[in-house]
Amino acid sequence: MTDDLHTLETETAAAIEAAADPRALEAVRVGLLGRNGRLTALLRDLGKTPPEDRRARGAALNALRDRLAAALEARRVTLDEAALTARLAAERIDVTLPPPPRPQGLIHPISRSMEEMAAIFGAMGFAIAEGPDVETDWHNFSALNIPAHHPARDDQDTFYLTAPAGAPPPVLRTHTSPVQVRAMLARGVPLRVIVPGRTYRADHDATHSPMFHQVEGLVIDRDITLGHLKGCLIDFLRAFFAVPDLPVRFRASYFPFTEPSMEVDIGWDRKSGALGQGQDWLEILGSGMVHPRVLANVGIDPREFQGFAFGMGIERVTMLKHGIPDLRPFYDSDIRWLRHYGFNPLAPALLHEAA
Ligand code: PHE
Repeated sequence: MTDDLHTLETETAAAIEAAADPRALEAVRVGLLGRNGRLTALLRDLGKTPPEDRRARGAALNALRDRLAAALEARRVTLDEAALTARLAAERIDVTLPPPPRPQGLIHPISRSMEEMAAIFGAMGFAIAEGPDVETDWHNFSALNIPAHHPARDDQDTFYLTAPAGAPPPVLRTHTSPVQVRAMLARGVPLRVIVPGRTYRADHDATHSPMFHQVEGLVIDRDITLGHLKGCLIDFLRAFFAVPDLPVRFRASYFPFTEPSMEVDIGWDRKSGALGQGQDWLEILGSGMVHPRVLANVGIDPREFQGFAFGMGIERVTMLKHGIPDLRPFYDSDIRWLRHYGFNPLAPALLHEAA
């Protein structure tokens, strides 16, 4: 081999060895075998070699090219393996380590109460029904035996939307009771549903919000009695408040869509707020046997079917259960309040099993 080839081989071998990453190695390859590479130039100049030397020179150049190409390839494999090893080391995960602390989302107390109610009533065989927040006058009032100009409409002062001329304006529902009507029309009877959802009234102070939540309950069958109403609500209230002997009182009342109607109170101590203790009563919900006229309004024969309904403010029972003094922060999205009153999303609502 001539000196110039010897020099080229030594220098290139050193450059290959020095290439620390695939990019540096590629630069060496291009400098050698690329269009303007040193070895490419020598091969191009072969024609200028005197004919008697040309054969030997050609063989030497080809052999050199093969050796250097092999060295390039070997170095490439080494560099790739080193890169893989480094990556495996860098990305190694010790699955036995505890997870790093990270900010965790919490369940809002209203959602938590709804989940608990779904769990408790679900265990009693209730399905969940839903309806729209913007209701027709008929569903919210008339079908529930509250005719226009009836004083019961004033108790539920609310927000109306504008309607086409002549039509009664749609209303932000004042209670979840219109879903009684929708559920009976859509599902027929027998029927056993609860209806959690948003409701609206023109009210605003520490215990009233213009937007709040209710859960409605409706059971219709051939032989449902007041005894079922009482047993169902007593079981529910004791499970929800987790007080097994919680005193529950049924007090005669009036709703246009139930007959007879009852307000339901639970026993507590007003001063300490302790549920199931003391001598005081606290009103929790409204209930009653579904008025025959409501059944007739949705095409159900009240001589064949009867049942009970109830409606409960979710904020109210949530504040009581968790000792939350003010209603307004429920809707402020203040992260400090949520951190204090929120619930671990991984802790399931299993209260029905405690009953
Ligand atoms: N809808 C009534 C209210 O909001 C509550 C209720 C529901 C009463 C069902 C009786 C039966 O005040």
